[in-house]
Amino acid sequence: MAAAVGRICGARLLKNYGIVTPQVCQLSTGAQGWTRNRKIWLSTLGVVSGGVGALLFALEQSVQASGSEAHPPHQPWSHDGWFKSLDHASVRRGYEVYKQVCKACHSLQYIAFRNLVNVTHTEEEAKAEAADVMIKDGPDEEGNFFERPGKLSDYLPSPYPNENAARAANNGAYPPDLSLIVSGRKGGEDYIFALLTGYMEAPAGVVLREGQNYNPYFPGGAISMAQVLFDEAAEYSDGTVATASQLAKDVSTFLRWCSEPELDERRLMTIKSMGMFTLMAVVAYYFKRHKWSTMKSRKLAYKPVSKK
Ligand code: HEC
Repeated sequence: MAAAVGRICGARLLKNYGIVTPQVCQLSTGAQGWTRNRKIWLSTLGVVSGGVGALLFALEQSVQASGSEAHPPHQPWSHDGWFKSLDHASVRRGYEVYKQVCKACHSLQYIAFRNLVNVTHTEEEAKAEAADVMIKDGPDEEGNFFERPGKLSDYLPSPYPNENAARAANNGAYPPDLSLIVSGRKGGEDYIFALLTGYMEAPAGVVLREGQNYNPYFPGGAISMAQVLFDEAAEYSDGTVATASQLAKDVSTFLRWCSEPELDERRLMTIKSMGMFTLMAVVAYYFKRHKWSTMKSRKLAYKPVSKK
């Protein structure tokens, strides 16, 4: 491409030595050749589209400003950054928090026990976790459904048989499935952490209905989930002190893993591809120098032709 442009320029210079053609002048001054109508149309179009754009921007800003919820502060997650992996001890503790606290109300339907293997648990431990729960299976040869201990291939069971049962047990509110909640909420794990630790007395003027609690991070402020994390609300098998913020941090990290189980692999891929692209860039640069060396070092000499 660049070579072609160079060749064309060179040829043109040779042909019109010392003369700038009028055609080139016209191209650079733009709108001179336009008709009056065309100018009016185009300026109207410019003004209208600019106005619509400004209106949309203003509307978008006003919506943001009217939100009553507090923005979750950013926490220094150890997995933040292009080359960082998840803290697997924390993911394991987070699973323990989910199992002891959140599981009572929230399902985790896209996580199977086999997913825990080599992430939070060894294969034997994951098998034991699975065997701890009863899974509905069937129909058997006589057409009956039955319950059996879980296997590695089973998904984590939901606490309620269906959405209506969940709503009935929670004052009409539906505890959402937590598998993808970190990707599904603005703020990700910062939001989950802020939500779990942010419960407070409702400020004056805020009226809560029966069963609702005040949480400034929840859109609208009135949330149907009560505060569930307190100091010692769950027990850790590794002896970590279970303060409320520790529980919230670990369960947020765990839910981040649930939303993006491929996170570690992706980060590893980043390191590999950066190495590869650096190598390729060096080779490409060398090759470019090699191919252009004849072009770059050539000399053009112009010889004025005398008029006869
Ligand atoms: C007693 C039942 C109960 C327990 C235990 C519980 N939740 Fe909830 N949770 C709810 C209900 C009900 C809602 C729906 C609230 C609403 O829509 O007002 C909810 C909503 C949520 C939401 C969604 C908020 C949003 O932005 O929509 C998240 C995240 C959440 N819970 C996380 C957790 C975590 C993490 C735990 C465990 C530490 C937990 N919950 C334990 C009942 C519970």
